[in-house]
Parts: sequence; C-alpha cells; structure tokens
Amino acid sequence: MSESLEQAKKEIATLRNQLNEYNYQYYVLDDPTVPDAVYDRDMQALIALEKTYPELRSVNSPSQKVGGEALSSFEQVTHEVPMLSLDNAFDEASLLAFEKRLKDRLKDTATLHFSCEPKLDGLAVSILYENGQLVRAATRGDGQVGENITANVRTIANVPLTLRGEGLPSRVEVRGEVFMPRDGFVKLNEHQRQSGGKVFANPRNAAAGSLRQLDSKITAKRPLMFYAYSLGVVQPDSVELPDTHSARLHKLASWGLPLCPDIDVAEGGNGCLDYYNRILNVRDNLPYDIDGVVFKVNAITLQQSLGFVARAPRWAIAQKFPAQEEVTTLLDVEFQVGRTGAITPVARLEPVFVGGVTVSNATLHNQDEIHRLGVKVGDTVVIRRAGDVIPQVVSVLESKRTGDEADIAFPSQCPVCGSQVEKLEDEAVARCTGGLICAAQRKQALKHFASRKAFDIDGLGDKLVDQLVDADLVHSPADFFTLSLSNLIGLERMAEKSATKLLSSLETAKKTTLAKFLYALGIREVGEATASNLAMHFETLEAIRSASLEALVEVQDVGEVVATHIFNFFNEQHNTEVLEALLREGITWPTIEKPSEGNLPLEGKTCVITGTLSEMGRSDAKARLQLLGAKVAGSVSKNTDFLVAGEKAGSKLTKAQELGVEVWDETALVSFLAQHE
Ligand code: IVH
Repeated sequence: MSESLEQAKKEIATLRNQLNEYNYQYYVLDDPTVPDAVYDRDMQALIALEKTYPELRSVNSPSQKVGGEALSSFEQVTHEVPMLSLDNAFDEASLLAFEKRLKDRLKDTATLHFSCEPKLDGLAVSILYENGQLVRAATRGDGQVGENITANVRTIANVPLTLRGEGLPSRVEVRGEVFMPRDGFVKLNEHQRQSGGKVFANPRNAAAGSLRQLDSKITAKRPLMFYAYSLGVVQPDSVELPDTHSARLHKLASWGLPLCPDIDVAEGGNGCLDYYNRILNVRDNLPYDIDGVVFKVNAITLQQSLGFVARAPRWAIAQKFPAQEEVTTLLDVEFQVGRTGAITPVARLEPVFVGGVTVSNATLHNQDEIHRLGVKVGDTVVIRRAGDVIPQVVSVLESKRTGDEADIAFPSQCPVCGSQVEKLEDEAVARCTGGLICAAQRKQALKHFASRKAFDIDGLGDKLVDQLVDADLVHSPADFFTLSLSNLIGLERMAEKSATKLLSSLETAKKTTLAKFLYALGIREVGEATASNLAMHFETLEAIRSASLEALVEVQDVGEVVATHIFNFFNEQHNTEVLEALLREGITWPTIEKPSEGNLPLEGKTCVITGTLSEMGRSDAKARLQLLGAKVAGSVSKNTDFLVAGEKAGSKLTKAQELGVEVWDETALVSFLAQHE
C-alpha cells in the first residue's frame, strides 16, 4: 500500500470514529458537544477523502446516510426469531387482570416490576449487526418473513451503522420502531404540498411510505427516527446480558442505539396505571405520535417462565389510548364567516366518538384543503381529534364511494350578506368583502370586543351578542354602552335582574387599559402581545392613530404586513367614527408610565435570545431584559447589539458570529441581571 493510501486510511478511520462519536452524543445522549459547523467540516473532509480513495469506501461509513442505488423490489428475509405482536388492554380492569394472570401463572404474589414504554406509532423493524457493523434490516412482515429494507434503514439519521462500547455480541439483532416525529411530518407535508407530491394523512403513514421506498435516496430525505425496544438473535450464547429488560435496553444505549426518552420502570399494576396516566396527560405534547403504552415484565427469568401464546408474549401487554382517528360520513359543508371576513368551510358530520368526545363538526380550513382532500358531500371520511385541537378531516376513503357523492361548491358570494367573496393570489383564505355591513363579521367583531381578554364584559356572551345584532340594537361596539334596561328586558333569558347586572358590568368595563382597548378593536393580526407592544411603544392612542408605517414597524414584533393592517385600520373613516363614539361613551385608561429613560443599563440596545436557557425560560429572560431597557428582536442583523445564546443555539448563533455580534452565554446573562436588576 502506498504511503498516501496508508495515510488516507488512517485519516478516514479517525474521521469515521469522530463522526460516530458526535452522532452518539447527539442522538443517544441528547447532549451534543460540538457545534454543527464542526460536524459539517469533518463530514466534508470524510466525503472528500472517500471520493479520492474509492477503494476505502464502506457502506457503513457515516457519510453513507444519503442513500444509494434504487432497487427493483425488496428481497424477503426470514426472521430467525419471530417478530411477535402484543395483546391489548383497553381499560384499567383488563390491565389489573393481566397482572393477576401473571401472578397466578407464576404462583408468586411478590410485586412484579414492569418496563414501561410508550407504544410508538410507526413500524416495527429488526436490525442485524455482525461484529458491530449494520449488515441487514428488515420489516416485521407477517412476523415470520419480512422485507429487506437495509438500504433504507441505513439512511435513518439516528440508526448507528457501527456499534460502539463493551461486550458486543458477534451477532445481535436490535428491534424497535421506525417513526416520523411530528415536526418532521408537518414539514414534510408542507414540502409535499408545495411540490405537488403526496400529502400524508398522519405521521405513521408518512413513516410507512418513506420506509417502503425502493429508492433509498428518497428515504434519506425523510425525517425518520428509530427507537430500540427489544432484542432478537444474540450470538454467541455465552454473551452475558443484564437480567432485566430495562437494563438490557440501557445496554443497547451503551452500544450507541437510541432509546425512547420516556421509558420507565414501574412497580405492580398500579404503578403501570400511574405511568399510563402520566403519559396520557402529556400525549399531545410529545414530539412523536403514540397509540398507547406497553408494559413488559422486567425480569428476564420471569419472561422465560411465562413464555408465549400464539403470536404474543404472555409477559407483555399494550394498553391502548382512546383513538384519535375515526371514520364517519360527511353530511354537508357549511361556510362560516369570521371576524375578518375569512370564509371557513365547516364539515357537518354524522356524530362520531373520537379523541374522547363526540364530534359532529370538523374544519376543512379553506378551498385549497377541499381540493387537496378531493372530498365530496356524502363521502366516508377519516376524522382526527388530538387534544384540544379543532377536529380535522384528514382523508377520504374513496373505496367507499357509491357515485351519489356531490362536489362542494365554494361560494362566490358571502353566505351571510351576499357581498362578493375575494381571494387574493398569495392568500389561501377567501374573504367576504362586506366588512361591517356583513352581520356575521359584525357579530364576530362584537363578540371579540366583549371577550375576556378585551373589554371583559361580564354577562355579554355570544348568544346575547347574536340577539342584540339580530334585534338591530347594536351595530358598533359603542352601541353596547348606550343600551338601556328597556332595550334588554324582553330579550331571551333577560329578566330585570340580569339586565341590571349587565348594565353595571358595562359601566365597570369602561375603565380599561390602552392595550386591551387596542386588542378589542380587532385589527387584523393584532393579538394581545402586539396590542401591548403598541401601547408600551406609543403610550397614547393619539400617537398610534397618527403613526406612519415607518414608525409602526419600529414596534417590537410588528413587521410590514401588520404595520399595514394597523395603518389602514386607523385611516378608515368608519373606524375613526367608532373610536370617537367609544371615547364619547367614556372609555378611559390610565396613562402609561414608562420607566424613566436614560438611566436604564440597556437603553437603546437591541438583543436577540436563542437556544435553551436552563435557569429561566426565554420569555422570562426577554421580560427581564426589556425591563432593563433592551429591545428584544426576533432575528439577528447588523443592528443587533448582543445575542443571548443558550444550549443548542443554532443558525442565529452562526449568523451572530459571522456578523461579529457580541454573544452572551447564560452565565453572562445571569451575572448581568444579578448586577443590574
Ligand atoms: S414490543 C415481543 N415495544 O407495537 C413484543 N412494541 O402491537 C414485541 N410497538 O409490532 C413488540 N412501541 O410495532 C414493543 N415499546 C414497544 C413498542 C412496540 C410500538 C409496536 C410494534 C409492534 C406492535 C405490537
């Protein structure tokens, strides 16, 4: 071997080890030690060397995560150890019955310990390592025979191509779930939508579609992840493994395999129920979809004496969560008009129990969504309700069509006031152009005005607003304050007592704050935070009303679009009249007292906060810096005076370094705050 080849071989080995180590720190320990730039530099160096010395290439090099040649079909793989499935429990009683069955069979009443694991909603995969090298990966298939998807699994970012650590068996099969994290799923679908590709109904389908690609280069671009949850073949037999399932999982982690961070060990059936409830409570906030939790008897000797029935182990059970997806019929589509005129198609459904409640309406978002789904009235549709999110129509079961389904026509005129519907080219939303002529927009605007975060008018709920508008008693918000007892009495569910009470809460509501007043006006895209920023910045309504576009974009979080909405709002005759009328009715707020200027340590300084701060939240840091006079911006530019960079800071840190912007770590921030607060 020539000297330079020998040299390249050494360098390649060093780079591969280094990159494997970075991957392990990132994916398994969740504790990256080097910035992305360092990782990228080493990766580029490795790729360059492998290009120069093709004879030194290897399928298990960390550079090979990009996929290879496309296949024409998948080969079959016979599992040496069958891949089993799990029995299900759907309620507490069947879980406790499972515990009792175990104790009876073991003829032992001692408390059992269980490995508790989220039941990831993806696909089971078995990965074979020989002498620490990934040599084959297969799907579960029917449990006996699966498909060879080695090339695809090699591209999954957190699957190690080479194992590390001590006590590695010469052959070891690692089993676990391949899934798509939710954020990756959302991004993938956005990309698919823009590029006209297939949009996936849920992360599971997206994971399945990505893993069963004949072209591994496509799989490589999909945000898949893997978590290990068991072992298959382990050879030689003499290999010593820990004697509990949970310790074996941690052994796998020590070899570089990623584990689900939410696994735990529980005592007895009741401990399992606690775990179930704990995970159920955080279900919607987890970064991945799960459909339940899995409990496995922890002691391997007990697993062995319990054995298997048919295709499932006796020693494990999956306790399912309530389904978040169900199938029902789309009865009709109605079009609702919102506060800003946005027209939203709403699906009326045959009521169905999903995600813990009975659902009879779901949003269809907009015209593009109807188009994308290809949905028709009368269709059988899949409904998803996750957490408190509005139920969605996720897909249509076209196979259920009878031919009697009807196309959905998007209205060209407002269904409430008959004004033209307009759809701007760069907006997905169609809007009624009727403004406050439109009773629907007026009602929504009035409801918003009276709502808790705005004028907070006690006793003035949505139904009452509807009645007041329908009875022609209220046209604009100022009219609320001219209502009299005689106007109110006689309305549905309005006797003298409740009417008197409402008048008194209207009186109380007249004393407000400038921020709430601005929020209540319902200016497009001016939420609570922006309203409060506007109030702080300008201090008086007069200053805001006469502010130029340039002056408006100076306000924290106000960009050009929002500034235009604000500017247009105050330059519209009708709105001026409403404002004047409100002021005539005696709406007042206390003058805003800003901290005295000039002696604040960060007066005139602009900063940006990024990364994770361990001692305080980012919003806490922001508020504290603002109190010291700083302006906190969202992105780094040449006008940034300093960047507060917590753990795992990414592109903002890189940009700040490029621009030579001063960078504070959390320690610097904490000590600055300690000195100046
Ligand atoms: S253990 C011998 N553990 O659920 C037991 N399965 O219904 C075999 N799954 O095909 C499976 N998370 O795709 C196990 N922590 C977990 C799991 C899990 C998800 C899936 C897996 C399996 C199916 C069984």
